[in-house]
Amino acid sequence: MDTSGKTIKCKAAVIWEVGRPLSIEEVEVAPPKSHEVRIKIIATGICGTDGHVLTGSFPKVEYPVIPGHEGAGIVESIGEGVTGVKPGDKVIPLCLPQCGECSSCLKANTNCCLKTHLYEPQNLMPDKTSRFTCKGKQIHHFLWISTFSEYTVMPDSTVVKIDAAVPLDKACLFGCGFSTGYGAALNTAQVMPGSTCAVFGLGGVGLSVVMGCKAAGASRIIGVDINKEKFVKAKELGATECLNPQDHEKPIQEVLVEMTGHGVDYAFEAVGCLDTLRAALASCHLGCGVCVMVGVPPLGSQLAFDPMLLLTGRTLKGSFIGGWKMKDSIPQLVTSYMEKKFNLDALITHTLPFSKITEGFDLLHAGKSIRIVLVF
Ligand code: APR
Ligand code: ZN
Ligand code: ZN
Repeated sequence: MDTSGKTIKCKAAVIWEVGRPLSIEEVEVAPPKSHEVRIKIIATGICGTDGHVLTGSFPKVEYPVIPGHEGAGIVESIGEGVTGVKPGDKVIPLCLPQCGECSSCLKANTNCCLKTHLYEPQNLMPDKTSRFTCKGKQIHHFLWISTFSEYTVMPDSTVVKIDAAVPLDKACLFGCGFSTGYGAALNTAQVMPGSTCAVFGLGGVGLSVVMGCKAAGASRIIGVDINKEKFVKAKELGATECLNPQDHEKPIQEVLVEMTGHGVDYAFEAVGCLDTLRAALASCHLGCGVCVMVGVPPLGSQLAFDPMLLLTGRTLKGSFIGGWKMKDSIPQLVTSYMEKKFNLDALITHTLPFSKITEGFDLLHAGKSIRIVLVF
């Protein structure tokens, strides 16, 4: 049935207000307007950030909202003026737009397009209206892409075509978790061959950092996690050693400095905690170590640390979605995946039907999963 130009009714997970659980509802999805694309989502990962939308700890969200930002799908229809994709194309929605026109997009050294939620709310389409309604109420978009809906509409700056041969129930991880960690090592740190790295937090993001360090040729990759169940997979993906801070009397940064002589060349924080960020910085090599912040800190928090750590030559950097300009880079990452350059599939511990989304969040919060993929 040709659905273009018509409103589509489908299932979506709605958060009606902060603190309320996800509720699976039938929603109406209006057709795309000019420079918008309507996508049938085939698969979507659950990322910790979607959990932050449930608790109200993600900035600038408006409720009711349909979260989800790690999806993969097929273009159902396009609005006027869309040239980058056409109906039937396999695509990844981009949680970080690449408008191609703003000062960031025109610079080679940043991916922070000025259309991101950091600068402009992405709760409604650019014309300030929503394409979602449910029970007669307007529902907000999340990061413009709302992948927890079987059909979703987004601006054409937030979607990119990928290789038609790629399985979408794997490729969805390029939308956030994998790209975030892998790019932190390759783009932000620019890990040098033969170097020593420490990765704090061995969830989906930290394991992707491990894969990036390995791809860059690091010779020593030390995984750090308080859940030792994460060590098996970390070693499978490239960690040469793993440490549990709870097994040591000394602070973990001291253990790392002793183990390596003078500290690590690169330390990555993929937990989202200020204590682990301070520990990661302090475990860096005197004079040259680079600490990359990947985890999202608690909303509104302030960081305090001994500034001598920086004066004596260490560097503290942040990495946002791995530093990738997403529209340019995601198709290339997908090609590398098809060439088996990294083991993305190892991150997926569960594939569940979309109707089991709440079970998926429970698994995530219990630390029993790496990445959960929901399929429609
Ligand atoms: N020290 C070391 N590891 C820790 C600590 C700690 N103090 N506290 C928690 N961890 C570990 C957890 O055991 C878990 O294995 O950090 C890991 C975090 O993994 P996930 O919860 O699966 O999170 P992930 O999806 O990998 O994201 C990590 O990046 O994108 C951000 O918002 C995300 O801030 C989060 C971070
Ligand atoms: Zn831009
Ligand atoms: Zn995410």
